Amino acid sequence: MPLDRLAERVGATDETTQEFYGRWAGLYDVIARYTPGVPALRRRAATACRLESGDTVVEMGCGTGANLPSLRKRVGPEGTVIGIDVTGPVLERARDRTARYDNVHVLRGDATRPPLPDELEEAGLDVDAVLATFVVGMLEDPAGAVDDWCDLVGPGGHVVLANAARSEVWYAPPINAVFRAVVVLSTPPTTKLRYEDDPHLRLDAKIDAAHRRLRDRSVAIADETHIFGVVRLTGGRLE
Ligand SMILES: C[S@@+](CC[C@H](N)C(=O)[O-])C[C@H]1O[C@@H](n2cnc3c(N)ncnc32)[C@H](O)[C@@H]1O
Repeated sequence: MPLDRLAERVGATDETTQEFYGRWAGLYDVIARYTPGVPALRRRAATACRLESGDTVVEMGCGTGANLPSLRKRVGPEGTVIGIDVTGPVLERARDRTARYDNVHVLRGDATRPPLPDELEEAGLDVDAVLATFVVGMLEDPAGAVDDWCDLVGPGGHVVLANAARSEVWYAPPINAVFRAVVVLSTPPTTKLRYEDDPHLRLDAKIDAAHRRLRDRSVAIADETHIFGVVRLTGGRLE
């Protein structure tokens, strides 16, 4: 069926990421759903997608599917939710989490190779929104990925990003020290990022680039920080 063909098209490639998130899928799932402040942030991010009943939303790097039930609730039984991730074991959890919905599709694929407009047309899909939470910092070219996602939704569509980066609040130093430790520990150990002197600076640069590109390409729907300034939420509507 067309959606399976789309999954083949975006075929997964990043083995380091898959190995790391595959091994830690269970722990990540707990952190992703229960870290204080994160459930509220997820609700804000889903709201910023401005979904209506019957809409189609794609979540890039959906992980264990923490956002998928809330996206399904917003698009209703007539809508379509597609979660894409490179890592098999996290996808299994996402599939279990959404098994009761026949309009939530969890596909293995690469978020940096989204389907092309003619492939979407063939699959009978018109994407209204793209959501990516805690993903762009892992991509080689985050701004380029945001460009692709903006093209995917087209005029009138919404793109929403949420990412952890260094805080700029006045009491930031201790928070940023913890943040730096978390970045090092949560970065796949065989990637270059983990061995750089300041992996959190490189992560910050990637996140800045992605959020800036979204702000440049869209009209602001959300421009917020959460959880002591550590999480940035940017949402925009394409003109
Ligand atoms: C930090 S987790 C975030 C998961 C989920 N978005 C959430 O909010 O809990 C990052 C996820 O991005 C996925 N990922 C990283 N690079 C990817 C890529 N190029 N394409 C698809 N998924 C990717 C990883 O497999 C992992 O599940």
